[in-house]
Amino acid sequence: MNTIKVDPGRTLAPLSRHVFGGFVEHLGRCIYGGIYDEGSRLADEHGIRQDVVEAVRRLRMPIMRYPGGNFVSGYRWQDGIGPKDERPARAELAWHTVESNRFGTDEFIRFCRQVDTEPYLAVNCGDGSMREARDWVEYCNGTSETALVKLRRRNGYEAPHNVRYWGVGNEVDGPWQMGMKTPEEYARAFTEYGKLMKWVDPDIKLVAAWTSGWFEDWVERGQLLLEQAGHLVDYMAIHWYVDNRSNDYYQYMALSELFEERLTACEGLLAAMKTCRKLERPIYLAVDEWNAIPHSEHGGGIDGSYSLEDALVDAIQLNAFIRHAGSVKMANLAQVVNVIAPIVTRPDGLLLQTIFYPFEAYSQQAGDVALDIYWDGDTFEGGGRAGLRVLDVAATLDEGARRLALFIVNRSLEGCDVTVDLQAGRFVGAGRQLVIGGANPQVVNTFADPYAVATVEKPLMPQDEQVTLELEPHSITVLSLPVA
Ligand code: AHR
Repeated sequence: MNTIKVDPGRTLAPLSRHVFGGFVEHLGRCIYGGIYDEGSRLADEHGIRQDVVEAVRRLRMPIMRYPGGNFVSGYRWQDGIGPKDERPARAELAWHTVESNRFGTDEFIRFCRQVDTEPYLAVNCGDGSMREARDWVEYCNGTSETALVKLRRRNGYEAPHNVRYWGVGNEVDGPWQMGMKTPEEYARAFTEYGKLMKWVDPDIKLVAAWTSGWFEDWVERGQLLLEQAGHLVDYMAIHWYVDNRSNDYYQYMALSELFEERLTACEGLLAAMKTCRKLERPIYLAVDEWNAIPHSEHGGGIDGSYSLEDALVDAIQLNAFIRHAGSVKMANLAQVVNVIAPIVTRPDGLLLQTIFYPFEAYSQQAGDVALDIYWDGDTFEGGGRAGLRVLDVAATLDEGARRLALFIVNRSLEGCDVTVDLQAGRFVGAGRQLVIGGANPQVVNTFADPYAVATVEKPLMPQDEQVTLELEPHSITVLSLPVA
């Protein structure tokens, strides 16, 4: 028997809605043929696919990172503004293609407004310059009578775009990056870029590229950044991608431990540096690229098909962000359309992959405060570790509406029972139970069978202080329960 004990008064931290952010890059068919499809009957007069807009809105992503990714380290933002037919096509070296620049800053902002999300732009800290970076901030946010502000106005945008979130570079720790940087080089570059960008607009928030490769120098990278730029950095960005390439289900499910270890270690360094350097400003973590990478027999890689087990692993990552709500204040699912994405388009419509459903359920049901809960029960062995709890759980409270949300991933290949004990207060009235499961962990959604994995709503009638459920094998259950 599995038990989850919840006390709605035992709060961890406010949950930032920005943990349900997304990321779109000029890569593969994410932008062209995904978000933006000039001439498509599914696009509006600006070329933005309206079926994509509708699907993204269901994910309720409050923030969207753009334009890369590796792409940004060779990007000239000025190429992507102004009359489209005058924009230069450029050789693109991150993904070895040609970038037409028909979609750029202003089109991205338009897309953001349509999906009701806040833009988060990353500047080129690869082969770009701090001049370009500060000019981009001025083009987007400026209000003075400068040439760049007049240019934005001439391009049709009288009001500033008011882009608040700015990343300086991308994955600068990796040799795959144009303009990879040593820890010292990046700490220095971030300090100067950030200084100028904040001089242009003091209200912006800066995101520093901390680690993506988790190489031996990642602690040193973080330390140098905080030592040199603790007065400028608002978020320290980390990335990870995971997959089940060894085709070992329980090893894949055991990745919860890796997420915990990494977040706990990052929190430790932040706490140590804050104490040691007397940093008084809040500095948070942004997991601004995260996801599973599909490895299913139906096709893997960036345009592969996600299976149910990938959806479980995405839910486990969201649980980790909720449990670390005190430090993780932003996370961006990488990516949103066509490239390692919950949404896949083709000219006549789109498909929602398995990973769409947990993200939608979490984003729609999560409350504004993360809770510190206790759970216990059946265990499994995976990834060389024994005694791992088959359930992976997180909880939130919507303080205004007094609704408790519980996010339960059953990693067992068997069904199991769970009792939720409310340690204070009582359940009042009917709740909602959203279940995402499927015939086996390898099942995928296809255009021929689009709902092999989807959210199913079941009735839920708790007793005063208790609710008992049967969880499906390899499934995600999201409970929404009114409490008094
Ligand atoms: O999301 C795909 C790529 O993965 C991004 O461009 C890069 O930042 C990461 O390595």
